[in-house]
Amino acid sequence: MTSSSNPIERSFELAAAACDDLTPRVYQRLFREHPEAQTMFRSEGSEPVKGAMLQLTIEAILDFAGERRGHFRLIESEVFSHDAYGTPRELFVAFFAVIADCLRDVLGEQWSAEIDAAWHKLLRDIEAIVLQRKHLVDERP
Ligand code: HEM
Repeated sequence: MTSSSNPIERSFELAAAACDDLTPRVYQRLFREHPEAQTMFRSEGSEPVKGAMLQLTIEAILDFAGERRGHFRLIESEVFSHDAYGTPRELFVAFFAVIADCLRDVLGEQWSAEIDAAWHKLLRDIEAIVLQRKHLVDERP
């Protein structure tokens, strides 16, 4: 496997080599650290939604950290649908930090200073975007 020069991309590549599926880890950590998140998902039939949500979030992160071809715009648009799901903005942002923490666990020694710095910057940039999006109701003239 070729190793990416983009540290965010590389962190996902290394994780994929070490762990089949991040999904159970991410949601276990999310619900442990933010138990209120669990109640936002329907109690039955939400497994495919959770899988898709993580997959699409990862695609958005890779695009945001890379070429910015457009997938990253999901972050801005989902802010609004999640207002409707009752997901507070801080929790929405926390999902990205949960993904980063899971990657760090999986990578262990392979989590380099460069990867760490890139993730810190990414999390700050995403937080700025999400928190500055006004609630739709605030945008009425
Ligand atoms: C902890 C934070 C979050 C919570 C609690 C949450 C909650 C939810 C819930 C309840 C749904 C499903 C609604 C349904 O039953 O149809 C959903 C769907 C979705 N979420 Fe999140 N969400 C969070 C963070 C995010 C983030 C950061 C993104 C991406 C930027 C995202 C992207 C999506 C997408 C794309 C779907 C639709 C998935 C599909 O049905 O294909 N979510 N989320």
